[in-house]
Amino acid sequence: MHIFLTGANGFLGTVLLRDLLAKGHTVTALVRAKGGMDAQSRLRETLLDYDPLFPYDKVIGGTLSIVEGNATQSKFGLDERSYLDHARRSDIILHNLACTALETDWNIYEEVNIGSARKAIEFAAHTRHKALAYVSSAYVAGARTGMVLESELDPLGSFRSSYERSKAMAENEVRVAAYYGIVRTMIFRPSIIVGDSQNGWMCEEHHFFDFIRRLSWVHRLIHNRAGSDGPASDQQFRLLGNPKTTKNFIPVDHVAKLISMLVDTDAAWGKSFHLTHPEPVSLKALMKYVQEFLCWPELSWCSREDVQDLSSLERRFARSTRIYERYFWQEPSFDQAQLRSVLGIRLPRPDALSKDFVSRMVGFVQKKSIQKEILRKEIARSLPKNFPILT
Ligand SMILES: NC(=O)c1ccc[n+]([C@@H]2O[C@H](COP(=O)([O-])OP(=O)(O)OC[C@H]3O[C@@H](n4cnc5c(N)ncnc54)[C@H](OP(=O)(O)O)[C@@H]3O)[C@@H](O)[C@H]2O)c1
Repeated sequence: MHIFLTGANGFLGTVLLRDLLAKGHTVTALVRAKGGMDAQSRLRETLLDYDPLFPYDKVIGGTLSIVEGNATQSKFGLDERSYLDHARRSDIILHNLACTALETDWNIYEEVNIGSARKAIEFAAHTRHKALAYVSSAYVAGARTGMVLESELDPLGSFRSSYERSKAMAENEVRVAAYYGIVRTMIFRPSIIVGDSQNGWMCEEHHFFDFIRRLSWVHRLIHNRAGSDGPASDQQFRLLGNPKTTKNFIPVDHVAKLISMLVDTDAAWGKSFHLTHPEPVSLKALMKYVQEFLCWPELSWCSREDVQDLSSLERRFARSTRIYERYFWQEPSFDQAQLRSVLGIRLPRPDALSKDFVSRMVGFVQKKSIQKEILRKEIARSLPKNFPILT
């Protein structure tokens, strides 16, 4: 099958692209140029960062081609002829790109998340099978509690972030287009996608990566203070959250595997799927694994009533991670009846969010942060003295 994949150099896109190629599909990857790098160099860099053995030179120009484009521009920034060529050559478009920041200017969500879903529908209508496979999110359920069905969507519901709202509105666009027979669709709703189950690989912009990096930084700070002033009298460090709630983390390789299975399954058209973990980890267990990995037994959860007692460092951390904290109190359960019925006995089980898995991910974040710090110092050393540094 020939698949037009958007967001191919993102966190999920990278793993998905590798899986689709490994399954023998031909992929055209839409990537934008950014930060002085062209689309080809950017995609090559992420693919090799994820899998240093990825046979990039072998597939490029053969089963993999790269198109430079931007979701905010008309026809993805392609000229009319090349746009139609790409669409007619593709069997389906797998629309995965999005702005995944939890809060930003609404116009960006409107343009990137909702606008690009409309563009993907338009593109799909020109593909050979008029087919759109769309990556949504389990959190289109917003602030709902209890069991959420894969068939349910309320774009006017209540949401914990503008990101969630925009994803619900975008999914609604896709559903409406399917309802009117403009395109055939299948919709994927992953929960919180976390690192690869084998090596912990994650994008540095990822929310979990950011949270762990901040936590490791605070841990180092407390540890260093204790080192310079003698043993710290109290290394207690509290995070706001309910240890009894669960977090539905799902490894990126598992999500990619499910998507690449579903796009090959005829019965999946016309349905949406919760690509979620059937046994989500509790915040209590997660904390225990992080405590053990960082050797930080004094790390704990605390309730909102305890906010007044927080130290200034705990408060600073809480303020800087407020955007994530709203996810630490409750989450719904995600029904997977449609996924089970379509994949049947082929449905793979995701790895459990075990201590080893969490250690791999936290270890990966720490390794990447150290590499970045070393690089920063090397660059600073190589600059002439008095070189103006913009901060
Ligand atoms: N990560 C999660 O936990 C999670 C959970 C549920 C659902 N999802 C959904 O899964 C999909 C992939 O998420 P992800 O975590 O892989 O996100 P990501 O790492 O932030 O990747 C997003 C991708 O979209 C591209 N993109 C953004 N704006 C663009 C534009 N204007 N034009 C062209 N490309 C643009 C990015 O390209 P640049 O590199 O050029 O910015 C990147 O390739 C998204 O639809 C997301 O909503 C993610």
